[in-house]
Amino acid sequence: MNPLSETPAPGRPADPQDDSLLILAAGGDEGLLAKMRQRHAAGEPAPYVAGFLLFRGHRFTMDHRAYITDPELTHLVDAVASAGTSLAAQLRRPLRLLEFGIGAGTLSLSLKIEHPEWSFTGLDIDPPALALARTNAAAHGVALELLESDFLSAWPAAAEPPDLLFGDPPWGGPTDLYDETRDGHYYDQMPALSAYPGGTSPCGIHDELIRRLCALGWPSALILNYGVLPAAVIERSAAPLAEWRVVHPRPDISVLLGCARA
Ligand SMILES: C[S@@+](CC[C@H](N)C(=O)[O-])C[C@H]1O[C@@H](n2cnc3c(N)ncnc32)[C@H](O)[C@@H]1O
Repeated sequence: MNPLSETPAPGRPADPQDDSLLILAAGGDEGLLAKMRQRHAAGEPAPYVAGFLLFRGHRFTMDHRAYITDPELTHLVDAVASAGTSLAAQLRRPLRLLEFGIGAGTLSLSLKIEHPEWSFTGLDIDPPALALARTNAAAHGVALELLESDFLSAWPAAAEPPDLLFGDPPWGGPTDLYDETRDGHYYDQMPALSAYPGGTSPCGIHDELIRRLCALGWPSALILNYGVLPAAVIERSAAPLAEWRVVHPRPDISVLLGCARA
């Protein structure tokens, strides 16, 4: 039987995009494709099975060391690209950007590929994820500074703050979903500190990052993804900032644009 025409094993529902990834990963090896489909049907996320993901047309190595970038994060990248372009025009020089919680590097590397004149530093608390970001940066021949850091602790005290800080810190819980194809079990397979913030606030990492930025008084533009969290939660989280607004690139998705210093 041709595995390309097999009905999927019971378990995870067949998603055409996931299946395309597996077909690409199998490279025409039908036995391998059948095995990959079995793993995926048993609940393993397609990018972990395939060993890579596609984001904004770029290919990034992906494995269990790092969070699987949600496709919706292309909206965050758009917001950073748009705000960054305006800011660079104002400053009349290439931008210095900092990504908080860089994971496998997908977001910063996409931006760097699309805006090679900008420079990027990526922070993450998780060394294995940073190792994967390093691999992805090398594969794309792109320079990226990577720092192991709990919040902003590794940012050198003497260094100028970045022009723009952005990120998708962990948010929500197993029932806060972009869509039903990625459920709690999907996110449970990601590194412990990557999917959910823990604690009592559904955006506790955002809250703490904002608290620290305000204490530092950084003038950096701030762009954070809050996913599908409710407006009241986001308003409470953003309240310490000197200025902020929320944009909705998709009606259910919220991205905060703000600054700790007026
Ligand atoms: C939702 S993932 C996003 C990863 C990446 N930006 C992407 O979209 O693929 C959140 C990332 O924040 C990192 N993180 C969580 N808590 C952190 C902290 N206190 N300091 C720095 N990074 C943290 C996690 O290790 C994880 O890589």
